[in-house]
Amino acid sequence: MTKVIGIVQVKGGAGRSTVSTNLAGELSKQGRTVLIDCDLPQGTSQSWYAVRQEAGKTAGLTIDTATNHRELVAKVEQHADADYIVLDSPPRIAEMTRAILILADLCLVPVGTSAAELWATGDILELVKEANKVKRVNARLVWTRYRPNTKLAQGLTQEAEKELHLRALNASMGMRVAYMEALGEGLTGADMHDPSARDEVRQLVEEVKLLLKVKP
Ligand SMILES: Nc1ncnc2c1ncn2[C@@H]1O[C@H](COP(=O)(O)OP(=O)(O)OP(=O)(O)O)[C@@H](O)[C@H]1O
Ligand SMILES: [Mg+2]
Repeated sequence: MTKVIGIVQVKGGAGRSTVSTNLAGELSKQGRTVLIDCDLPQGTSQSWYAVRQEAGKTAGLTIDTATNHRELVAKVEQHADADYIVLDSPPRIAEMTRAILILADLCLVPVGTSAAELWATGDILELVKEANKVKRVNARLVWTRYRPNTKLAQGLTQEAEKELHLRALNASMGMRVAYMEALGEGLTGADMHDPSARDEVRQLVEEVKLLLKVKP
């Protein structure tokens, strides 16, 4: 059955497109994957795909777009033969985010590791609570620009669970040039020479599959 993964966050620049492209790029090596860019006209995922296509690396992966929530619902139905659908969302509280929360089997909420970003994430929780009335939403925080072993990072994980009732993935993405470069080159962290980025992306994919109950 198709597994739908939504990457949502109302705060701009949190790392939605980075998480989306890394997941889509890696999952496409394991199953038919569709990346749907719901953040137009910016279209970061769409641009990433275009560069990837030029590099001849799009086997298993297709791109699509959705400009509003109705179109998104139709597109997800249309791609029901895919193994994975990854949804890159816009940075606003909008119908689109609500639709993604309902459509997705798993929602990831990227948060840069700072208190300000965590506070801004509170807004998403209201949407999750609303969406929970329609369908139980399976959501997890994912730390981006993470600095392990800092007091800040550890404190924020506890705060997120206590205040936001939102669990964080064990996998996280550190603050790495490799991710910035990968985004511009149509690649993922796993394709880069940075072994830490490679490990992080593999762990992210494995944890996502575990949460989606995809057999290894
Ligand atoms: N873990 C990371 N390490 C280093 N740079 C990162 C990391 N995650 C994201 N970035 C960089 O931060 C910028 C914003 O990331 P990204 O485009 O993924 O966020 P977004 O939430 O999709 O933003 P937007 O609101 O513009 O759609 C990009 O330049 C990206 O390369
Ligand atoms: Mg984006």
